[in-house]
Amino acid sequence: MERFPRDAGRDAKGKSRWRQGAPFFNQRGGHRLFAAIYDPVTAPFERAVLGAHRSALLAGIGGLVLDVGAGTGANLTHFRTARKVVAAEPDPWMRGRLATKAANAPVPVEVRSDAAETLGFEDATFDAVVCTCVLCSVRDLSAALSEVRRVLRPGGVLAVLEHVRADDGFAKWQRGLQPMWSCFSGGCHPDRDIAGAISQAGFLFQSAETFDPMPSWVLTRPWLKAVAVPAAKDSA
Ligand SMILES: C[S@@+](CC[C@H](N)C(=O)[O-])C[C@H]1O[C@@H](n2cnc3c(N)ncnc32)[C@H](O)[C@@H]1O
Repeated sequence: MERFPRDAGRDAKGKSRWRQGAPFFNQRGGHRLFAAIYDPVTAPFERAVLGAHRSALLAGIGGLVLDVGAGTGANLTHFRTARKVVAAEPDPWMRGRLATKAANAPVPVEVRSDAAETLGFEDATFDAVVCTCVLCSVRDLSAALSEVRRVLRPGGVLAVLEHVRADDGFAKWQRGLQPMWSCFSGGCHPDRDIAGAISQAGFLFQSAETFDPMPSWVLTRPWLKAVAVPAAKDSA
């Protein structure tokens, strides 16, 4: 008699749940512990490095803005010119914290639960879409970027602040340690070629800056801060 089903470690599509960081802290419906520790654990890095990059990226973003995987709302204080921000966050534990910050944000914020792969908006709804520290975690990167492209209006901008796969031998470590790392980091994949995926999804970079503020052994490095626009359909 089998004590465990043979496919217990696989999802409905047969993908390894271990590689997706599912076995630990991924309680049905979200990551309760990850949500609770996210702000205190990231606070020193936010103060020293990331906060300034968020401001530089977001202060000039205007119109109707979608913040994908908004987490606990780290971006919200950095918006200055947005008419309204729709903050989409599927994890209920993150969303609870997000709602509190939304109430005190400098611009109007609507909190929603859409996942990046299934955004419940009409085509060409948004003037800008923001992805910060989220494309590492989405289940299906190309589906998420295709949805982002769909909901952006022509001429709209995609603003990105993400850690990305290293372009040297360190990438092997990122790949090898990803399953274990994902378990403790809400499903984060340090080994994703995010710039490549953005290009493949039909975006053109208007600006892109790579920076590497972490010690060389940290898995989540280097970082990409970029603004991209949807390519015209026939040049995609
Ligand atoms: C590391 S946190 C970053 C949160 C926030 N964007 C920030 O900059 O601090 C990653 C977030 O992505 C969310 N997330 C994970 N999978 C997602 C998906 N498929 N669609 C949208 N958000 C997702 C998680 O719930 C989590 O809140």
